[in-house]
Amino acid sequence: MTDKAVRETRLPDREAPKRGKVRDVYDLGDYLVIVATDRLSAFDWVNPVGIPDKGKILTALSLFWFDQTRNLARNHLVSASLDDLPDDFQSNPDQFEGRSMLVHKCRMLPVEFVVRGYLAGSAWKEYCQTGSVCGIKLPSGLVESSRLETPIFTPATKAVNGHDLNITFKEAAGLVDQDLLETAANAARDVYLRARAIAESKGIILCDTKFEFGLLGDTVILADEILTPDSSRFWPADQYRPGGAPPSYDKQFVRDWLETTGWDKNSPPPPLPDDVVAKTREKYIEAYRKLTGKRDY
Ligand SMILES: Nc1ncnc2c1ncn2[C@@H]1O[C@H](COP(=O)(O)OP(=O)(O)OP(=O)(O)O)[C@@H](O)[C@H]1O
Ligand SMILES: [Mg+2]
Repeated sequence: MTDKAVRETRLPDREAPKRGKVRDVYDLGDYLVIVATDRLSAFDWVNPVGIPDKGKILTALSLFWFDQTRNLARNHLVSASLDDLPDDFQSNPDQFEGRSMLVHKCRMLPVEFVVRGYLAGSAWKEYCQTGSVCGIKLPSGLVESSRLETPIFTPATKAVNGHDLNITFKEAAGLVDQDLLETAANAARDVYLRARAIAESKGIILCDTKFEFGLLGDTVILADEILTPDSSRFWPADQYRPGGAPPSYDKQFVRDWLETTGWDKNSPPPPLPDDVVAKTREKYIEAYRKLTGKRDY
């Protein structure tokens, strides 16, 4: 293991950041610093043990995709260089280097822009029950993990308990102005298609992904992280078989191990043992190397 995991960041002279399950977000007024920590969540619980470098690898991957898709959708990135952050961040490279993005603070649209090019997860369940997903009728006879030649936009919203709730386009249009919704949904589809093609050429299937959009003035901006294993389902192409659920790229070891422990998933999870941490870290690195062709992790 090269580094210790960075599970939480803090700066003595600043208010504590807003902590999501994985990211620490510092508010600088017109800008945010979004810091991807090494926290890992599985079955909706953050594990007490982090995966060293996970936040750096996911930040590098997000930056790769922002670059690959910059002409398809304007995004929120200002800089990922530590030199462009305030001094107190710069004096703490152990916490912030390589895992921080300075972004324009946007007014976020209250809809998750999920695009699916394969039938998996909640979409597969919904299709089995109704033949539709989020109000979109699909051809009959599809099986689990079937490829959808034309990807579908399946909006979701965060329910009160924090879980995502699939909604129809019409319901989404009740939450977001219809023109903005269409602009963002089209951008989401374009970005997904570009990424799916790039991933495919590297032996990785991009099953589905979630984007978040915001408004900067009245411009629709692609925000948050994009196309990381935390916001997407990636499958190794050589393990893809329609009719079953391929292993998720990164967290399969974690999920499998947690299933063996007898943990009830309603209380804090048991800490991951070293070998599961090491294997999971290797998977993140493998995905990063395959997708980007880079070897810096
Ligand atoms: N450019 C932006 N402007 C404003 N808010 C943003 C921007 N980009 C991302 N965000 C928000 O920053 C937060 C990122 O934190 P994170 O995803 O870790 O936490 P979360 O979404 O609140 O919780 P969860 O752990 O369930 O994902 C999200 O609330 C996201 O909507
Ligand atoms: Mg989030």
